[in-house]
Amino acid sequence: MKLAEMNRKWWKEAIVYQIYPRSFQDSNGDGVGDLRGIIERLDYIQSLGVDVVWLNPCYRSPNDDNGYDISDYREIMSEFGNMADFEELLAGMHARGIKLVMDLVVNHSSDEHEWFKQSRLSRDNPYRDYYHWWPAEKGTPPTRWSYFDVEGNAWKYDEPTDAYYLHYFSEKQPDLNWENPELRKEIYDMMHFWFKKGIDGFRMDVITFISKHDGYPEFDVAYHGQNMIDMYAQGPRLHEYLQEMNKEVLSNYDIMTVAEGQGTHTHNVVELVDESRNELNMNYHFDHQSIGVGARYLLIDEDFQDLVKFKQVMSEWDGALSSEGWNTIYFGNHDFPRMVSRWASDAPEHRANASKMLTTYLLSMRGTPYYYMGDEIGMSNIKFDNIDDYNDLMTINWYNLTQKEGGDTHALLEAHKITGRDNARTPIQWDNTANAGFTTGKPWLKVNPNYTSVNVAEQQNRADSELNYFRKMVRLRKDNLTLVYGQYALLLPEHKQLYAYTRHLDDEVLLVLLNYSDTALSIDKVALGISDTTDTKEASAFILINNFSDFEMTNSTVVLRPYQAVIIKLK
Ligand code: NOJ
Ligand code: CA
Repeated sequence: MKLAEMNRKWWKEAIVYQIYPRSFQDSNGDGVGDLRGIIERLDYIQSLGVDVVWLNPCYRSPNDDNGYDISDYREIMSEFGNMADFEELLAGMHARGIKLVMDLVVNHSSDEHEWFKQSRLSRDNPYRDYYHWWPAEKGTPPTRWSYFDVEGNAWKYDEPTDAYYLHYFSEKQPDLNWENPELRKEIYDMMHFWFKKGIDGFRMDVITFISKHDGYPEFDVAYHGQNMIDMYAQGPRLHEYLQEMNKEVLSNYDIMTVAEGQGTHTHNVVELVDESRNELNMNYHFDHQSIGVGARYLLIDEDFQDLVKFKQVMSEWDGALSSEGWNTIYFGNHDFPRMVSRWASDAPEHRANASKMLTTYLLSMRGTPYYYMGDEIGMSNIKFDNIDDYNDLMTINWYNLTQKEGGDTHALLEAHKITGRDNARTPIQWDNTANAGFTTGKPWLKVNPNYTSVNVAEQQNRADSELNYFRKMVRLRKDNLTLVYGQYALLLPEHKQLYAYTRHLDDEVLLVLLNYSDTALSIDKVALGISDTTDTKEASAFILINNFSDFEMTNSTVVLRPYQAVIIKLK
């Protein structure tokens, strides 16, 4: 690979930091994070060295699904502040050289959006076709599965017009009808509205679901339940809509786009992100997240941390996008547990090193890294024992559904300690004062009790903290284009504890060694491409980063401590 031949773009070289506003910083004591809270923390965000912030939805919303149910796309959620706050936040970011990417949630709106209020009034209302309706005289509608419905049914009967409407998510999130050109135009206008304010891109919520199959045919039973995701993502007009959106809106601005790629796999991702197709820049997939996790986020087997499978998935994704398109890399976001609990270990003796190791991985792979707030200080899962502690409608509905079916609610709760979304939504731990400095009021979701030791203030000036390791790793990636564009080659694919790979650009070769286990490893040097004459002292001179203070080699082996991460410049 030659740098001169790379199709360089700012969004390929960027590091994205995700902020879930509800849980970042509360500025007015109501227990809910808000925009002024983020403004207060702008210097902190800048100190991380990240280039882009992706902000979860902050539009007007009744908050059935924490902002993913929008009742007005051009207003700010009152709990988060107002438009003046938003503009100040955007200006504050730009003044610090940080770009702002917003969430675009246009597969569905809130049932409290004016369009839906109109749509459900009568069958001939001008807004009727803004949503998907099935007239009751045609009988029961064909099966469609819903993530958040209490019965898993995506059709909801609506009395006033004797018809069912479609909702892939909760019944308060009716799906918008993209077949309707007027609806599409409304959405494009709204996107221009935000771009004209100066935002730098959109993360597109379940964008792969926007095209529905004509006439809602019955899907093959093999696709029932959660498997419907693959059908939902293959609507016949998806690419046509995205190309239209690109032409009408995206191509007019220097911005970035990323699809939340539910149902996107290595065999079809290129259709979405190949530059010559003029659709989107990037996609993020779910293939690694689903390893070992079954329906309702139950752990179906013990392989949820199977490193060999994980390496295979991640390597296939790298390969799929090595010549066309561009990959993304992430572990955590507001829909997944804390990365250190899910992918490594949050045991007190390992948590800090394990989280640094995962940071090394995210920031040394090919593809734009999406890094979730709080992971930089190694925040871990809260693991609620009680369903009453949960706020997330997904866990609550699945719990109720399991209870109704006479299923094992205990197993569901146990699994959700590892997989549940609320684990990632607990407030950021700023310091060791009450409520971790997040709020002076009662936090909307409990603070993880480990805040007394795991917090920003404690890590801010400690040289070997998780936080300062993250900053160092960010700088390393920013200073080293091999980590961005270099060819990726996996070594020792069958090794069950070691993830090792090289990154190669022009004449430079970097070797990344990650011990994904809680036991020490010794690995044959030659298998890693390290000559057997190299000694520890020599190798140490070429170490670019190491999450331990030392690194050990014998004549024939490299020794890695539990969760040790090292990047060595081989050439
Ligand atoms: C994906 C979002 O990330 C998630 O939080 C939300 O619940 C669903 N889409 C529905 O919008
Ligand atoms: Ca607040």
